[in-house]
Amino acid sequence: MRVFITGASGHVGSALVPELLHNGHQVLGLARSDESAKRLTEWGAEAVRGDLDDLDRIRAAANAADGVVHLAFRHDAMQAGDLAGAAESDLAALRAIGDALAGTDKPLVSTSGTAMLEAVAKGRVATEDDYDPNGGYRIDAENLVVDLAGKGIRSSVVRLPPITHSRLDHHGFAPTLIAFARKNGFAAYIGDGTNRWSSVHTLDAARLYRLALESAPAGTRLHAIQDEGIEFRVIAEAIGKGLGLPARSVTVEEAPQYLGFLSRFAGLGIPTSGARTSELLNWQPTHPDLLADLATGFYFA
Ligand SMILES: NC(=O)c1ccc[n+]([C@@H]2O[C@H](COP(=O)([O-])OP(=O)(O)OC[C@H]3O[C@@H](n4cnc5c(N)ncnc54)[C@H](OP(=O)(O)O)[C@@H]3O)[C@@H](O)[C@H]2O)c1
Repeated sequence: MRVFITGASGHVGSALVPELLHNGHQVLGLARSDESAKRLTEWGAEAVRGDLDDLDRIRAAANAADGVVHLAFRHDAMQAGDLAGAAESDLAALRAIGDALAGTDKPLVSTSGTAMLEAVAKGRVATEDDYDPNGGYRIDAENLVVDLAGKGIRSSVVRLPPITHSRLDHHGFAPTLIAFARKNGFAAYIGDGTNRWSSVHTLDAARLYRLALESAPAGTRLHAIQDEGIEFRVIAEAIGKGLGLPARSVTVEEAPQYLGFLSRFAGLGIPTSGARTSELLNWQPTHPDLLADLATGFYFA
């Protein structure tokens, strides 16, 4: 399959591009800079220069492909406080891809996160059946992709957990928590830290994207979950151990001071199951789990 990927040069893309190439696919990646284009060609992919907001280019690349994976997200805008703008770019890009693929039965695999599930599955383990019909930032994009199944597209959404970890992870939530702990002199958790976060290894997540591209039924929500949920305090203690620092509780009010933008997420309890995804696509995580990866030490080098 000739696959067009947005965000191919990022963290998940750096695992997905080789995963696809090693399994007989060709990859064309959207690259917004010479540096990103160079990275893609070094990995054996082709690069098409363009920004996420170049909708004509995205439409043309999707039109010429046998399938599309959408990973790009304007994290820089989000971290600068413009989540609305980042979410709007995401939606516009997906609409352009939808225009290109409508009526073709070609696959589109898009990306979402499990963080949104706290609102709809409070107090229990979230499953692939849970979704938020009321919409919101990023939720609208997920719902749009599922609806594209009704327009002749084999669309699916991979929901990633808050921590997708591996040696390929240089600026995700794990390295960000580590950087805050270094700065603070302790690894912070909120309250008693019993809220649980799920996680997955980047290479296992990449395999799930490939399987979804190859065979996910239209309109499916998929969970890239290895650890259903680890108490946040346990994650903070593992980070503290890796840095030789203590783990310490902070209050909700103190959290922004010690965890910056992550304070919005650090108190969430989002245990999530990936059981149906495993069964549907015969996907079993095989790489180390989060605590094993943290114990290896590479995150702290
Ligand atoms: N990793 C996680 O733990 C996690 C968890 C939940 C959800 N997600 C979601 O999963 C997706 C992939 O995440 P990731 O960790 O791979 O992110 P990442 O490492 O930040 O990569 C983002 C990708 O998007 C590209 N991009 C950003 N702004 C762009 C723009 N204006 N035009 C064109 N390309 C642009 C980046 O290009 P450059 O390489 O040129 O910067 C990069 O290829 C994102 O939607 C993310 O929000 C990730």
